Amino acid sequence: MSKLIAGLEQQLAQIDAQSLRRRRRITESPCAPRVQLDGRDMLAFCSNDYLGLAAHPRIVNALQEGASLYGAGSGASHLISGHSRAHAELEERLAEFVAPQIADARALYFCTGYMANIAILSALSGSGADLFSESLNHASLIDGARLSRANVQVYPHGDLTRLASLLAASTASNKMVVTDSVFSMDGDLADLPQLLALCEQHDAWLVVDDAHGFGVLGEHGRGVLEHYALSSPNLVYMGTLGKAAGVAGAFVAAHKSVIEWLVQRARPYIYTTAAPPAIAHALLTSLDIIEGAEGSERRAHLQTLIAQWRGALQPQRWQALASDTAIQPVIIGANDEAMKIAAALYEQGLWVPAIRPPTVPANTARLRVTLSAAHTAAEVTRLVEALQQLELRG
Ligand SMILES: Cc1ncc(COP(=O)(O)O)c(C=O)c1O
Repeated sequence: MSKLIAGLEQQLAQIDAQSLRRRRRITESPCAPRVQLDGRDMLAFCSNDYLGLAAHPRIVNALQEGASLYGAGSGASHLISGHSRAHAELEERLAEFVAPQIADARALYFCTGYMANIAILSALSGSGADLFSESLNHASLIDGARLSRANVQVYPHGDLTRLASLLAASTASNKMVVTDSVFSMDGDLADLPQLLALCEQHDAWLVVDDAHGFGVLGEHGRGVLEHYALSSPNLVYMGTLGKAAGVAGAFVAAHKSVIEWLVQRARPYIYTTAAPPAIAHALLTSLDIIEGAEGSERRAHLQTLIAQWRGALQPQRWQALASDTAIQPVIIGANDEAMKIAAALYEQGLWVPAIRPPTVPANTARLRVTLSAAHTAAEVTRLVEALQQLELRG
């Protein structure tokens, strides 16, 4: 065997020894709470499809219609010939969506949230800039910070006193604070009103990754800025469209000059093939649903399920994190223990992912339960009871 392959296999064996090997399961049905998985019927609490839109018939029809209108692929990057009428309409709609929160807003559609985050951080920050990053930020923000070549300082989770002193000590003319809105592995919310006040005081950008808030938070599902009624020219907002919106991609919304700068300078926007226009076309229907009566009903049902879960699950040995969002983690601790619990649930037809380091800190391996408006109260009860029994069994 070649030395290179042998070296990799040795490292893979170390991953196994720490119970850290990740495996992909193959689904054979649309994303929904009731899925066909490896040939079995399962009840899933895994996806980020918080409103249950991923298989919504109206959105599926719109995707098909989009393919009939525009074909399968875009054929080129946005700045060459891949920017379709569907992309343009979607961006206009998204800008209207955030208009109450960001004056003179424009929006820019990206293939993924990962790319959008890298684009924002690498194009708006740079060498000589100070970038302040929350310690629990998503990997895409961490990678974007590295690529930006800014001086990166990580502040502890939720520690705004520390952030305030870092900002006060900064002499950089370009300062940026970067945070998830809903922390993806913990479910808690960043204190955005305080963060924004600090950013305005110190003339810093506030980059908000609302991957888990867009569609879910706020009266009209416009996300965390609507939830907190925030508005400022310092805001650079990123919302993903493959989670609550049920389709794919992401967008950045900000003052029109920020967006124009991204069009001119953001490499993950410029140097990649535009997403299929059919996706943008389908997203227009998704936005109709999110801001209409159906979206409100779905959000209300999700809130009822969250309250039910929080009231019913009171673990003794494990820890249910205090979260008001659809992300409801249960901290188990050791990697192998978390894997064992997830396997025992799986045996009972319940699919819940075990999340281990490096995604979460060592000794905080957890079940990441996600609730969706597509779940029923009886399904939530089924998972609560299964967990209670497993904890009692020890
Ligand atoms: C907080 C956060 N930001 C960004 C992303 C990346 O978004 P996308 O899946 O669209 O690449 C994710 C999830 O994948 C996320 O959880």
